[in-house]
Amino acid sequence: MRILVIGSGGREHALAWAIAKSPRCEKLFVMPGNGGTETIAENVAVDITDHAAVVAFAKANGVDFVVIGPDAPAVAGLGDDVRAAGLLCFGPSRAAAQLEGSKAFTKQLCDEAGVPTAAYGRFDSEIEALAYVHDQGAPIVIKADGLAAGKGVTVAMTMEEAADAVRDCFSGAFGESGSTVVIEEYLEGEEASIFALCDGTSIKMLPSAQDHKRVWDGDRGPNTGGMGAYSPAPVMTPEMTARVENEIILPSIRRMAERGTPFTGVLFAGIMVTRDGPKLIEYNVRFGDPECQVLMLRLQSDALDLLEATARGTLAEVTPEFSDEVALTVVYAAKGYPVNPEKGSEIKGVDGLDGDKLKVFHAGTARRDGRLVANGGRVLNITALGATVAEARERAYDAIDRIDWPEGFCRRDIGWRAIERELKRT
Ligand code: AMP
Ligand code: GLY
Repeated sequence: MRILVIGSGGREHALAWAIAKSPRCEKLFVMPGNGGTETIAENVAVDITDHAAVVAFAKANGVDFVVIGPDAPAVAGLGDDVRAAGLLCFGPSRAAAQLEGSKAFTKQLCDEAGVPTAAYGRFDSEIEALAYVHDQGAPIVIKADGLAAGKGVTVAMTMEEAADAVRDCFSGAFGESGSTVVIEEYLEGEEASIFALCDGTSIKMLPSAQDHKRVWDGDRGPNTGGMGAYSPAPVMTPEMTARVENEIILPSIRRMAERGTPFTGVLFAGIMVTRDGPKLIEYNVRFGDPECQVLMLRLQSDALDLLEATARGTLAEVTPEFSDEVALTVVYAAKGYPVNPEKGSEIKGVDGLDGDKLKVFHAGTARRDGRLVANGGRVLNITALGATVAEARERAYDAIDRIDWPEGFCRRDIGWRAIERELKRT
């Protein structure tokens, strides 16, 4: 099979790496790809926002299967355009991608399907939004409605912060995304990332993971796309996982099908495990980044079989298998991330680190004249397996300490929640 992966992040390197291991993978393209994908696939410099150009490349190069990695092309309807051209595609339709593209859409779906989530109000007017904040009090959560690169959410602990966030949204800080605002009840608990492959009717639950959104140790500083992750998330006990499947994922999938917008691809539920049980924080219509990296390192089944069955509607026939080991990934970012990462610095000592239980996935890297250079905010994902979170973490940080990149930084406490639990048990 000839496969085209869309995207350029660590998630796409991990997907491409897993797909490339399949004996059925004859030829692999990544568009646009990065300095890691080019060592296992052919990087293609086509603008992925130009759907006609993507389809033309796929047709001209005999591509059988297109795998969409990131949210933006999914929300923009690349899946529809690829399928309209008669190609098989892993990724949702534009209509189903509203689950990520519009927070108001997801809230409405939760109401219709009886999915537990934070109480909320939806506002198109600043005055009404401020009045609602005033009535509800802090802490409270303010969200710009559309995609805002993970920056449209303010968890406001005080009334002042909440009012400022509302004003920011309506003053255009997030462009069109802020013209509708969702204001939510503050949920207290521990977060987990839950993934399910969905072919429109059937689902297959994948292992859980836990992300680290804040940029600095101790979960401080601004939100990022994610600074590290591990899988499984110990907070997701078998009982809690079953509740998420039955109370959140399945009713949502059923309701999407009833609406005439069945969801296909991977549904990523951001869950808060509260005292009253699991509640949905948000849906994404793609793998998490960096959660995908830990899932792919643990995956033992053929990734191509799973993605293809999802796209073809034959998920009921496959069984995803994962290693019992823990996987943990640390994001090595360029100094200045998430605000203003420096690009262009050289990174030495990466090639040759990979081993049985260690894999470096590239995100914002490029190769120039044989040198590996930083080309984005999140640059490398050092990903390790271990019998425990502590062991996987030690392996990952050992590898990081062998990389020579003075312009990079990483959190030093990835996995702290799980390690605290492990210490309590011993
Ligand atoms: P989102 O972009 O919706 O995932 O929000 C980003 C982060 O804000 C989440 O990962 C949570 O840590 C936090 N968050 C979002 N909604 C809530 C909520 N209702 N209560 C508490 N924290 C929230
Ligand atoms: N790591 C969180 C996300 O991909 O949205």
